[in-house]
Amino acid sequence: MTAFAEGFQALVQRDLTWTLMPTVATVIIVAWIIRSTLHLRKIPGPWWAPYTRLWLFRALYSERCADVYLQVNRKYGPLVRIGPNHLITNDPLTFRKILGVQSKYTRGPWFDALRLDPHNANLITERHRQKHDALRAKMAPGYQGKDIPQMEHAIDRNLLTWLDYIQKHAVTTQERHVAFDMARSIQWLLFDMVCHLCLGHPLGFIDQHEDCYGFQNVLETRLPIVEKFAIFTEVNTWIKMISHIPIVRRVLPSPKDKDGIGAIMGVAQKTVNARIAQGIPPKHNETMLDSWLRNGVDGSLAVTEVTIALFAGSDTTATSIRALLLHIITNPLVYKRLTDEIRNAATSTPIITERETKSLPYLQACILEGLRIFPPITALRERVVPPGGDTLNGVYVPEGTNIGLNLPGLLRNEVFGPDVDVFRPERWLEATAEQRQRMDRVHELMFNWGSTRCLGIRLAVMMMGKVVVEVLRRWDVVALRPQRPWRSRCHGIFLQRDFDVRVVDMEGTVR
Ligand code: HEM
Repeated sequence: MTAFAEGFQALVQRDLTWTLMPTVATVIIVAWIIRSTLHLRKIPGPWWAPYTRLWLFRALYSERCADVYLQVNRKYGPLVRIGPNHLITNDPLTFRKILGVQSKYTRGPWFDALRLDPHNANLITERHRQKHDALRAKMAPGYQGKDIPQMEHAIDRNLLTWLDYIQKHAVTTQERHVAFDMARSIQWLLFDMVCHLCLGHPLGFIDQHEDCYGFQNVLETRLPIVEKFAIFTEVNTWIKMISHIPIVRRVLPSPKDKDGIGAIMGVAQKTVNARIAQGIPPKHNETMLDSWLRNGVDGSLAVTEVTIALFAGSDTTATSIRALLLHIITNPLVYKRLTDEIRNAATSTPIITERETKSLPYLQACILEGLRIFPPITALRERVVPPGGDTLNGVYVPEGTNIGLNLPGLLRNEVFGPDVDVFRPERWLEATAEQRQRMDRVHELMFNWGSTRCLGIRLAVMMMGKVVVEVLRRWDVVALRPQRPWRSRCHGIFLQRDFDVRVVDMEGTVR
């Protein structure tokens, strides 16, 4: 072949390639659009959601995903398609089916993003059913207080330190006007309470009343990023693959860090080492950590578990207390009835007992209603449909589909009455026995169900009751800026700040 002919042939081939490329690309895109449209086609949802994960990304980016999830189920029904392989449900029966003990559903790949170490799961991130159940059996007695009779005492001690702090620094008098940021302060209280339960001592957050370990700062800066990456689950696999590279490992939290999550791990590591060296104290005289170690939790896993407990237990409960207080102090009818109940009750001093909080019906109704109107977790915590698929709300859903659990949507179920969007604790007291049972059966799902049911329910409810009672029986609390009482950003959990209040003495002169 002549040089001319060869050159001509190459030109034709190149031109052909250039002509074919857009055609091939178009065929791939069309095939992908058709596939995405047909897959899960019987399930309604926003028209553009099936094609990418951008609908989910946009919901998270808005920082108000709780509202977005609530509205999407209201608009399209109990089972809605919000991504290529992602559904969302607010249906109590579906929740129960997916989470039940006998269920074959598993935690989805989303949970990998919550791991502190990409190679090792902990109780909250373990996706393998048997491994999870084995670990849970070792950890549950500690969390539930069965091994720790001192649990309530530890809570009371920290609460007293916190109340003393308020009395000294936060109460407004005629001479001193204080804008007290309840959001931050409650966070410090909860960090110390949960750390005390885990390790046997507080971390000093209440005394210093600041972010001593930069823990909160790390949460506030990293959580919004982690939350968004978590929906691109492939990223977790890549991180796992490259996490052996030293420079990448340096980004992950380590007990050697001076601040942030790593610093907390460092504190936990020291206590774990000391416990292992000196031997675990006798049963019934211990911390959660002692209980876990005695039950066979490995030392390095225990370090991670303490850190995770601090995160899982403190943030959720702090948000619940803040939201409850906000709804009480901005609602005169509730405020009056609750303070009357609390101030007229003959209960122990200086701190009400857990048992006594249970005997205050209006307080209990407020706690239930606060959790219902403002659940502290909005992350979808997706579960994966088991092999063989399943039928949900009358529609076949193929195996491998991710089902998101919409807590804000669940808790506005019609079972709670026609005014579900209103904070009205009375609904819990007015309900007939049969209605109340139906309400309870939906409400209890907010702590999950079955083998991943929250292990901190008793703690959370106890802490909420005690804090509300002890604040409102000492002082009156007023929102400083009723037109914008706080800054609350929703990232699966909530980041809240600037909840400035005026705390005034009940017998004081300022009111
Ligand atoms: C109002 C406060 C709280 C709420 C609403 C809440 C809610 C939840 C939910 C929904 C889960 C299930 C996560 C999943 O999808 O798998 C969970 C799990 C868990 N929670 Fe809580 N929680 C609260 C407070 C606490 C506290 C105070 C602690 C302990 C200090 C705690 C410890 C745990 C643990 C260890 C798990 C994992 C259980 C397992 O996987 O077996 N929680 N919580």
